Amino acid sequence: MHAKAKYRKDYKKPDFTVTDIHLDFQLDPQKTVVTAHSQYQRLNPAATVLRLDGHSFQFASIKVNGKDFATYQQDGESLTLDLSDIDAERFELEVITRLVPAKNTSLQGLYQSGEGICTQCEAEGFRQITYMLDRPDVLARYTTKITADKSKYPYLLSNGNRIAGGDLEDGRHWVEWNDPFPKPSYLFALVAGDFDLLEDSFTTKSGREVKLELFVDRGNLNRASWAMESLKKAMKWDEERFDLEYDLDIYMIVAVDFFNMGAMENKGLNVFNSKYVLANPETATDEDYLNIESVIGHEYFHNWTGNRVTCRDWFQLSLKEGLTVFRDQEFSSDVGSRAVNRIKNVKFLRTAQFAEDASPMSHPIRPEKVLEMNNFYTMTVYEKGAEVIRMMHTLLGEKKFQQGMKLYIAENDGKAATCEDFVAAMEQASGVDLTQFRRWYSQSGTPELTVTDSYDEKKRSYKLYVSQMTAPTADQMDKVNLHIPLKIALYDMNGMPFSLIKDDEAVNDVLDILLEDQVFEFHNITSKPVPALLCDFSAPVKLDYDYSTAQLIALLKFAHNEFVRWDAMQMLFAQELRRNLSAYQQGEQLTFSAEILSALQQVLENYQSNVELTTLILTLPKETEFAELFKTIDPEGIAVVCDFMQHAIAEGLQDLWLKTYHQINLEEYCIDMRDIALRGLRNLCLQYLAFTDYGNALVNKHYLYADNMTDKLAALAAATKAQLTCRDKVMKDFEEKWQHDGLVMDKWFNLQATRPDGNVLTLVKQLMDHPSFNFNNPNRLRALVGSFESQNLRAFHAVDGSGYRFLTDVLLRLNESNPQVAARLVEPLIRFSRYDSQRQTLMKRALERLREVENLSNDLFEKIEKALQ
Ligand code: ALA
Ligand code: ZN
Repeated sequence: MHAKAKYRKDYKKPDFTVTDIHLDFQLDPQKTVVTAHSQYQRLNPAATVLRLDGHSFQFASIKVNGKDFATYQQDGESLTLDLSDIDAERFELEVITRLVPAKNTSLQGLYQSGEGICTQCEAEGFRQITYMLDRPDVLARYTTKITADKSKYPYLLSNGNRIAGGDLEDGRHWVEWNDPFPKPSYLFALVAGDFDLLEDSFTTKSGREVKLELFVDRGNLNRASWAMESLKKAMKWDEERFDLEYDLDIYMIVAVDFFNMGAMENKGLNVFNSKYVLANPETATDEDYLNIESVIGHEYFHNWTGNRVTCRDWFQLSLKEGLTVFRDQEFSSDVGSRAVNRIKNVKFLRTAQFAEDASPMSHPIRPEKVLEMNNFYTMTVYEKGAEVIRMMHTLLGEKKFQQGMKLYIAENDGKAATCEDFVAAMEQASGVDLTQFRRWYSQSGTPELTVTDSYDEKKRSYKLYVSQMTAPTADQMDKVNLHIPLKIALYDMNGMPFSLIKDDEAVNDVLDILLEDQVFEFHNITSKPVPALLCDFSAPVKLDYDYSTAQLIALLKFAHNEFVRWDAMQMLFAQELRRNLSAYQQGEQLTFSAEILSALQQVLENYQSNVELTTLILTLPKETEFAELFKTIDPEGIAVVCDFMQHAIAEGLQDLWLKTYHQINLEEYCIDMRDIALRGLRNLCLQYLAFTDYGNALVNKHYLYADNMTDKLAALAAATKAQLTCRDKVMKDFEEKWQHDGLVMDKWFNLQATRPDGNVLTLVKQLMDHPSFNFNNPNRLRALVGSFESQNLRAFHAVDGSGYRFLTDVLLRLNESNPQVAARLVEPLIRFSRYDSQRQTLMKRALERLREVENLSNDLFEKIEKALQ
C-alpha cells in the first residue's frame, strides 16, 4: 500500500505539541537504543487521540506519565494513542526504540557513514528514530545525551551547547547537549565519530565570540580551510547585507561521505556532503571552490531563514529554500562577480527548472499536493523559488526589500511561518501591491512572453507589444496572468542607449507586465532601436522576439549589461543550432555562419576587457541546454550538430585560440577571481584546440604540467570529449593516482560516463564494479549513472533501448536500498513525452516494469504514477 497524497488546503493546526524533549542515545552501529522523554501539551482541549509518526525501527515500549501504556494502535507508519483517560493539559511520554544504523542505507534518520554515525532528518527522517509529532510546526527544546564507545567515537555531537560529559568504566563515554532554541524535529542532528578538527572563531558585530568547528575525516585537514574561510565570509556578509547575527556560541560543521543531499542546516550542527566541504588545489577545481563557498553560505543563512523562522508545513518549503537560495546567490555575487553568477544561475534554471516545469512533475513553487515530500526538494522550489524572491527584490528595490525582511523576521521569529507571511511582510513594509504577484506561488509552468515592436520615424515613437501566456502543465490546466517584471533597454545600432521617456517623463526600465496584452510606448527615439529584453533575466520566463542576426550581434558588442551580451550570444548559438538541426534532419550539409564566427573572434580578441564574460560568451551551450529549445528532442541530431559547431568554432578561430592559450600565464595556483577567470579562459581555449591538429600534443602537455585539479581535469575533459589518442593514458594516470579517493574519482566517473564513444554503456556497466565505485554512495551513483543518463543524451536515448534498460536495472536495486536517490535518478525516464514515439514506447515500457515491482517505494511510485497517468 502506498501512502496517500496530502493537500495543502487540508492543513490543520496540531491538536498537541511537544514543548521539551530529552533524547538518550545508547549508540552502536549494530544496535542503538533511543529513549525519548517528551513533554506534550494538549492544544485542543477536546482532543483525545494522539497520532505519532514513526517507522523503520524496532518499537520497544511506551509510557505515559511514567506508567506503561497499552491503549494504542500501531501500523507501518504511526502509533496512535487513545488518551481519553489522560485529562491533563500536559503529560510526559517515554518511548524506547531500537535501531541498526549500519543497515540503514536510506541515509535518512540515523545511519552509518564510513566509520561514523550521523543523522539526516529533513524532511521526515526523525520519525525513523523514534515516534514523534514529526511536522515542522511542532517546535520543542531539545536536550540530547549520547553514549558510545570512546575509542571509536571520540566526538559525540548534537545541536546547541555542550552541557555535560564524562567517561564510563566500560570504555564508553557520554556527552550531553542542550539547544536553547525551540526547533522542529527536522532540524535535529547527531554525529558520532573520529575526526580531524579545524577550529576557528568569529566575533559577531555585537562583539560575541562564536567558536567555529569543522570536522572532517582523519587525514583531510589539509582540505578544510576553504570551507572555514567561506563560513567566516558568510557570517560577516549576513551581518553587513541583512543585518543578521549568529545566535549560539558555537557553530559546527561535519563533512560526511554518504549523504543524499548537498548539506543540511541543523541548528548549530550542519551536516555536509563532503563534496561541499573538502578542497585543496590538488583535489578540487575552481568550480568546486565556488560551490563550497555557496553551499557553506546557504546552510549558514538558513540559521535565520529556515531555523529561527521555519516553515509551518512542507508545502511552504520554498519559504526557506527559495529565500535562502536567493541569499546565497546574493552572497556569491557580492563576494565574486555578479554577472557571472547571474549567468550561471540562469543557465541552470533555463535547462533544469524549465524542463521540470514541462514534465509530469510540474508543480508551483508552493506545491498543492504531495505524496512523498522528498520528491519536492526540486529545482522549482529552490531555484524558481529564488527567482520569485528576486522579482520581489526587483519590484521593491534593495532598501524596501530589506525593510520587508526586517518586518518578516520581527513578526515570525521563533515561529513556523507561511509563504503568505513573507509576501505580506514585504507588501506591508514597502507599500508595493503584490496582490497579482502572489500568483507566482500557486501557478506552475514557464510563462512565455511574446514581444513585437513598431517604430514611427516621424513621431520618433517606439512601441513594444508584450503578451503573456502560460501553457497548461501536467498538474494544472488553467492559467492566469502573472505580474512579470520585464527589464529592458533600447540601443541604437551604434550601441548608444536611449533614455526611456514617455511624454517628457522618465519611464522605469522595469515594465510591469500584468495583462495578457500590453503596449508600451517610448518617445524621443531618434532611430529604430534594438531592444534588450529581459535584462538580467528579470523574470523566470521564456522570451520570444524575432531578433535578426544583426541585432543580436549589435547587442553582443554594445550592450552595457553583461548578461544581455551573453544572452545575445546564446540566441545566436540557438539560431545556428536550429538551422543546422533541420539541415541535418533533411540530409543537407551543415554550415556555420561566418558573421557569427567573426563576432566570436572579436570577443576573443578583446578578452582582456572582461575575461570571465569572454569565457561564458564563447562557451558553446551543452547538448542538454540546446535540448530545451525543442518540444520534441532529437538526441542524435543535437549531438551531431553540437559536435559540428564545436569543430567549426575550433577550426575557424584556431590561431586565435592558440595565441590566447599561450598568452595566458599564471603563476602558482591561487583562488582569486582574476586567476579563476584566466584559468577558465585558457582551459576553454584548450577545449577548442583539442578539436584541432594541435589537440593531442597540447592536451597531453597541459595534463603533465598542471599543478592543480582545475587544469588536470580540463585536460582530461578535452581528451575525452575530442577522443584524443592521449586519452587512455591520462585517464589511467589519474585513476592510479586517485583510486583511493571516491570524491576525486567522481570527476573521473563523470568523464567516463559522458564519453562520446559508441560503447560507452558497456564501459559504464563495467565501472559499476570498479574498486572506487560504491553503489550505496549517492555521490558515486550520481557521478556515474546520473551523468550518463542526464548528460550523455545520445547514449542514454539509444534507439535500441539499452540505456533505458540499464537505468531500470539500477532503479530496481535502488528502490530497495535508497528510494530517495532512486526517485532523483528516475527523472529522465518520466520525461518521455519529449521524445519521438519509438523512444516513448521504450521509456514507458521501462516505467511499467518498475511499476510492477512489489514494495515500490512512495518516492518512485509518486513519479511513475504521474508519468503514466
Ligand atoms: N534543507 C537542506 C538544504 O537545502 C536540504 O539546505
Ligand atoms: Zn536549503
